[in-house]
Amino acid sequence: MTKQLRNCRILAHKELTPNNLSMQVEWLNADQDFQPAQFVQVETSTTLDPLIRRPFSIFDTDPYSFTITYKKIGAGTQALSTRKKGDTISIIGPLGNFYPIHKIKNNQKVLIVGGGTGIASVHYLAKVLEKKNINYTLLIGFSRCTDIFCEPELQDLKGEVIITTNDGSKGKKGFVTEHFNFHDLNNSIIFICGPEPMTRAWQKKSELIGIQNYDIYASLEEYMGCGLGICNGCVVKVKIKKNDQFDFKCVCTNGPVFNLKDIIWT
Ligand SMILES: Cc1cc2nc3c(=O)[nH]c(=O)nc-3n(C[C@H](O)[C@H](O)[C@H](O)COP(=O)(O)OP(=O)(O)OC[C@H]3O[C@@H](n4cnc5c(N)ncnc54)[C@H](O)[C@@H]3O)c2cc1C
Ligand code: FES
Repeated sequence: MTKQLRNCRILAHKELTPNNLSMQVEWLNADQDFQPAQFVQVETSTTLDPLIRRPFSIFDTDPYSFTITYKKIGAGTQALSTRKKGDTISIIGPLGNFYPIHKIKNNQKVLIVGGGTGIASVHYLAKVLEKKNINYTLLIGFSRCTDIFCEPELQDLKGEVIITTNDGSKGKKGFVTEHFNFHDLNNSIIFICGPEPMTRAWQKKSELIGIQNYDIYASLEEYMGCGLGICNGCVVKVKIKKNDQFDFKCVCTNGPVFNLKDIIWT
């Protein structure tokens, strides 16, 4: 659907860990309107500080609402955390493109990789794949067990879920890149969302292995101003296949999902 500006009612707002919260927002037909990796621009504060909206991915939907999960890290998320159930909040959405689920080929293995705040969009992706009866493996990384803000939701997923923590306090110890046999990329499609170092590491490792027949799409989390393609605050450098040159693309309107093989990190 085309993007809309709506004043929405907050249906629930709760702390999941000391720094992670979830907010459920009323939005009729959210399960139809939002695709995995799409995001909303949220007016976090009722004052002019901070002035600029903040982007958040969709974590889940139902016919009446969507849920976002967020980490309190600065002024915007701090202001957002003070909003109460029953308050009205200004939202622009749905924004951006989405994971190209339609490109999954018959017999292709589906691997989903998430880390940090990127977990929201990969969780929603897993739920949507389940509705379409598509099998997947979800590889998901946290710094430590106390950061796992969505354990019940991960347990509810029907696919294979592999949790890693950097310090080994839960699941497998280390980074998500350490717990995947990159030779298994053969005939796979990978969807990835997480901190830039994680996404870069995944791109580098998969290139090193030299396997050609896999597809890899990443949802990028760039700093955003407008979220609407106006300020050019979110550009990334992308290869243009035809003439071996590059172009700059806005993550907010051309993305957030890109073919990771096309991204040129600067
Ligand atoms: C498409 C998209 C989807 C997102 N989805 C989620 C989500 O589901 N849940 C969630 O918690 N966050 C998500 N984010 C990140 C979220 O928008 C930022 O955390 C938020 O804007 C921070 O606002 P703030 O005012 O609290 O912090 P600020 O004061 O703006 O920043 C605090 C610190 O965080 C860093 N930071 C801010 N924005 C980003 C960013 N985009 N990438 C890396 N570092 C950043 C700043 O450098 C600074 O160090 C998403 C970002 C994008 C672009
Ligand atoms: S955030 Fe303004 S153009 Fe993307």
